[in-house]
Parts: sequence; C-alpha cells; structure tokens
Amino acid sequence: ETKHSGTAHGKIILIGEHSVVHFKPAIALPLMSTEIRAEVSGNGSPADDPRFAVDCEYFTGSLADAPGNLGNLQKLVVTLFNSLCVPQGCEGFDIKIISSIPRERGMGSSAAVAIAVIRAVADYAGVVLGSQEVFDYAQISENIAHENASGLDTIATASNQAVWFERGETAEAFDCECPGTLIVADSGVKGGTREAVAAVRSMLYSRERGKAREAAQQIDRLGELAYACLQALRKGDTASLGFIMDEAHEILTGLTVSDRKLDTLVAAARKAGAIGAKLTGGGRGGCMIALVADDLRSGVPATVKSVESALKAAGAVNTWRLPLHTGPDTD
Ligand code: MEV
Repeated sequence: ETKHSGTAHGKIILIGEHSVVHFKPAIALPLMSTEIRAEVSGNGSPADDPRFAVDCEYFTGSLADAPGNLGNLQKLVVTLFNSLCVPQGCEGFDIKIISSIPRERGMGSSAAVAIAVIRAVADYAGVVLGSQEVFDYAQISENIAHENASGLDTIATASNQAVWFERGETAEAFDCECPGTLIVADSGVKGGTREAVAAVRSMLYSRERGKAREAAQQIDRLGELAYACLQALRKGDTASLGFIMDEAHEILTGLTVSDRKLDTLVAAARKAGAIGAKLTGGGRGGCMIALVADDLRSGVPATVKSVESALKAAGAVNTWRLPLHTGPDTD
C-alpha cells in the first residue's frame, strides 16, 4: 500500500505572543530541528461510509474517539475528505503521525499536526493546494483547539522562513540574518494558552478603568517592541534584540502570562551569559527562549553550551538550538 506523507515543523514566537491576538504584529521563527510527519494510506472503506483511524505516540484508534488536540482533527479530516477525496473517488484512510514536537508547550504542535495531515491527505487525493488553502484548512482545527486563534501558529509551522505577522492583515516571510543563537527550553509544564489568553482579555476589558488602560498600554508596548525587534534583526543588532526580549518578558509577566518555572529558567539563562531571555508562546507553562551572542573570535558561540547546561540544571526537560542566521553549525 502506498503511503502518502506530509510534514511540518515546530515554531517559536520571538516577539508578539498575546499582543498578536489584539492585532499587534508578531515575529515567529521556524524550529526546523523539530518535525511532524503524517502518513496517509487508503483502508478500503467506501467513500459513502469512510473510516479514519489514527495512530500516534499517545493514541491508537478511531479518530472520532481521539482525545485532546488530536480529537480536534476530526472535523478537519472529514472536511478534507469531502472536499479533496470524494471528487477523486478515493476511499477512507488511516493516518499515522510521527512527532518530535512536544505537545502543549506553545511550540505549535497542534498546528503542525494539522498542516502535516493536510499535506498528506492532499498528496493522497493527488491534489495540489496553495498556501492560502492549507492555511484555511488548518484554521478549522486550530479554531477548535484555541478559541479565537490568531493564525500565527498555522502560518509559522507551514513556513520555512521567519514570519512577520499581523492578524487578518499580513504574513510576510523573510530571511533572518542576525548574529546569535536562540536556545529554546521546554519547562516540562503543560502550557495554559487558553487560560492566559482569557486572563489578558479580562484585564483589557476590565471595568476598573485604570487596570484596563494599563493592560492596553502593555499590549501597545509589545506592538512597538515587535517593530524594534524586526529592525534589530535586519541590522544584525543582537544586543538590542536581547534588551527587547527582556522587556517583553517583563511585560508578559505583568499580564500574568508567566509562571515561577518560566521565571526561574529566564533568570538561569541570563546568569549563564544569555544576553536576553523571555517566555515564548502562550505561557503559564510551555517554553522560554534565551539569546546567546556569537563569539567574534571563533565564530562559535561558546556560551551556548553553558546556557543549555544552566537551563537543564534549572529544570528544563529539553532544549533546542535555533541559529538566527544560516551559516556554520554551532555544535
Ligand atoms: C500561542 O502560541 C500564541 C498566542 O498569541 C495565542 C494566539 O496567537 O492565538 C498566545
């Protein structure tokens, strides 16, 4: 039986989580060292009564019975089947999902699973989809997973380049050529994106005028920092990037998006020589990122290893490297 496959990767948000929900710009970067691979193969069930079985690390069975974010795929898969497969006369299919992206850590695993499945089903049906179609399909499951999802995860996990994103307006891919390496660390704690997004909204729309005004100012400031961040990336100004990350973390903490473990990891990274650090993604668990400058003499950032060790010692369950430039490997 022929297998049809599709892949997608994880992502991190460099700047603009939460403020992006409120129409401020954000920058996301692909984390190419993580991957979701979906494999689709026909199972002989007729088009008028198709079966969809799913097999992944934590669940094997009918997609209709799948838990959590996997269950959110049901509506997507049925839609894909009806719009792509039925016209081609295809039978039902089984899906196998192989993932190296941790779940519920704000790394875009749910969006990446959706993208990989869409690409695999399109391949199975022999249909070529444009990027807008892939995005629209992926938002079907993302909007169930995260009510009011901005679409940033969907764009970022489908792109091989950095993305400048303004909700409902623009998504512009660009090449990032800035000295320095980001270390991504998983706190090991399930992220509370939905709760954090709700908490920010209740602050913004608080009946206490002062509180609402202050939250609005913080969101505005995050928007300004996104523009500053883009400029720093373009100029290769790693030092400014570090300051921007630090300020963003402070603001997100004020918006109750951080937690003690993320704060501990951020402090440990800075102490070990990172020139900036912040939580990334939805917060209240999930991941953080730390910026390490390149060592100008060797071209290899020696601090990368000490920051990684410090993060692990402070409780990170895993770390990944994300160079801000394409160039020699930093290992
Ligand atoms: C989650 O990865 C990013 C948030 O900004 C939510 C969203 O954009 O939908 C917190």
